Amino acid sequence: MTTPAPQIPLIDLSDGRAIPQLGFGTYQVPPADAERVVSDALEAGYRHLDTAQMYGNEEGVGRAIAASGLPREDLWITTKLNNTFHERTAAREATERSLEALGGRIDLYLVHWPLAMHEDVARVWEVMEGIRADYSVDSIGVSNFTPAHLARLAEAGLSTPAVNQIESNPYFVNDEVRADCAERGIAVEAWSPLAQGAVFGDPQLVALAEQVGRTVSQVVLRWVLQRGDIVFPKSSSPERMRENLALFDFELSDEQLASISALHNGTRSGPDPDTFGWRG
Ligand SMILES: NC(=O)c1ccc[n+]([C@@H]2O[C@H](COP(=O)([O-])OP(=O)(O)OC[C@H]3O[C@@H](n4cnc5c(N)ncnc54)[C@H](OP(=O)(O)O)[C@@H]3O)[C@@H](O)[C@H]2O)c1
Repeated sequence: MTTPAPQIPLIDLSDGRAIPQLGFGTYQVPPADAERVVSDALEAGYRHLDTAQMYGNEEGVGRAIAASGLPREDLWITTKLNNTFHERTAAREATERSLEALGGRIDLYLVHWPLAMHEDVARVWEVMEGIRADYSVDSIGVSNFTPAHLARLAEAGLSTPAVNQIESNPYFVNDEVRADCAERGIAVEAWSPLAQGAVFGDPQLVALAEQVGRTVSQVVLRWVLQRGDIVFPKSSSPERMRENLALFDFELSDEQLASISALHNGTRSGPDPDTFGWRG
């Protein structure tokens, strides 16, 4: 029996669809554990899952979806085109493999990294537009795109991505990219919201969590939600999965939100999109 999903707000996308603001991330969920971990997440009440070809765990995610018995229309599944597959034929073959693994439909398909050191980002976006036209892929977007990369798509006369999934957490707020996305009507998804665990020892966050009677994780995730971004924390523990879903019965004040944003020190949890070019 799965737990009924909590009431999770929807964020409108520019293509007319609406995405659940809170979901479950699967980066570093080993392929062998993915079916169990994602089954636990669905059982806890998550209905939005974020995976990627790069994570190697789409098959496990797909098996958990199938085993859940949940109606497919109740779920939102995001996956991402891997860096190795930007060329048209490779991209279409990779899409077919993802669709097969994930039960035949993808709600949101992202270009995982821009690889702008190696290629014109407009080329892969044209490939994505073709994929949306020809496959069961409902919305398309990008990940780790900077304002320069987004400007290049506009300059090439291409469509605007529905979503940009970028690193954003208290130590790397990424407000310049967020502001640029807001101007372009692109919804922002905040990856590594907990800075992959680095937030937990922070004395200021510990004090704020005590003050509001919540955990550090809940306070940070609530900060992301109140900033209007979409978020999908990863956890391997059913208890922490439930903790990360319990975000809708408290609110942070403007002052509390500002105190979290003030922790920004420019430390990234992941690579810099301007220099990251891994194609493995
Ligand atoms: N597009 C991209 O390039 C990109 C890059 C990175 C991530 N992402 C996406 O964003 C998702 C989230 O980011 P992330 O997985 O990197 O990191 P994250 O969600 O910021 O942090 C995950 C870490 O926090 C721990 N954690 C989670 N909830 C907790 C809680 N309530 N109390 C204590 N510890 C807790 C987890 O440990 P346990 O598992 O032990 O609970 C794990 O070590 C990913 O899973 C992926 O879907 C995308």
